[in-house]
Amino acid sequence: MAAERTILVTGGAGYIGGHVTMELAEAGYRIVTLDLCAVSGAPADFVAKAVVGNVGDQGLVAELLAREGFDAVIHLAGYIESGESVENPGKYYENNIVGSLRFLAELAKAGAPPVIFSSSAAVYGGGLSSPLSETEIPSPETPYAVSKLMIEQALAGYRVAHGLRSASLRYFNAAGADPSGRAGEDHDPETHLIPIALQAAAGRRDELVVNGTGFPTADGSCVRDYVHVSDLATAHRLALDCLLAGDPGGVFNVGTGQGHSVLEVAAEAGRVTGQTLTLEVGPPRPGDTAELVADPARFKAWCGWEPRYVDLADMVRHAWAWEQAR
Ligand code: UFG
Repeated sequence: MAAERTILVTGGAGYIGGHVTMELAEAGYRIVTLDLCAVSGAPADFVAKAVVGNVGDQGLVAELLAREGFDAVIHLAGYIESGESVENPGKYYENNIVGSLRFLAELAKAGAPPVIFSSSAAVYGGGLSSPLSETEIPSPETPYAVSKLMIEQALAGYRVAHGLRSASLRYFNAAGADPSGRAGEDHDPETHLIPIALQAAAGRRDELVVNGTGFPTADGSCVRDYVHVSDLATAHRLALDCLLAGDPGGVFNVGTGQGHSVLEVAAEAGRVTGQTLTLEVGPPRPGDTAELVADPARFKAWCGWEPRYVDLADMVRHAWAWEQAR
């Protein structure tokens, strides 16, 4: 059944997009990607067609939707750095909000295929309970987080007005790499903790700068819920199954429910690599939240998701194998 279905993955050239593409292609879906970047996030044979372009280019999107008649859309394209969004909010509002709204307008005109949207734990902001449940009132603290919440809300409006069903997945911190080494994290410049810690351990950087140790957490550094990128990819497949079966969708946390501090991640990077990292304590990053840990119960109950790799050590090991292979 899945073999006849074509899925559009925006942001398919990215880290999460590459893993989602592999997971869905292996499940028998035909994958078309739309990304500004021409290099695929997955090996090329997983992608039926890679379109280079912007999701906000309504002419391009209209033509693509008419030509392919997608059964569903996975909308991952967007800028992803909270800290950068504080420095340059316009970039995030223009691309993540305006671009996505233009994209949704075309989806509504083209029969409103169901959408999985890459939202973020960042929408919660700080000062809420831990672990976080979807019943908390979001309080986004950066333009990036605002952009994610805005599109979640736009999707809710499109559901009412156009019957466009969607699942907004609030990712916690994607981590690790494909266990068989086919894809991994490769941002330029890299800003994410695990690859930077590994590069510091491997001597490819002088040190890991810890962005503040004065947060109200056990060791003073920020706590995050790291979720293996392959489990995140599976989350999309299961969410897709639900939406394609006619489920109305909703908003869901996708995390493991376990938190690890920056200092714990640094220690794990040292263990996995067998090296001693040089740590330097720097100032907090603009907009950083002390702790973001998921209560994933709603998502698990909805689609039956259960993460396979819940140990931080597995995520760091897989990321290290990828880092060494590059
Ligand atoms: N950190 C450091 N030093 C570094 C890099 C990161 O101390 O060199 C800290 C950050 O300040 C943060 C934590 O490590 O406290 C995790 O940072 P990441 O950059 O790896 O991830 P973020 O939590 O900032 O953001 C990521 C994604 C977002 C997503 C969010 C969800 O980039 O898109 O997870 O929690 F919204």
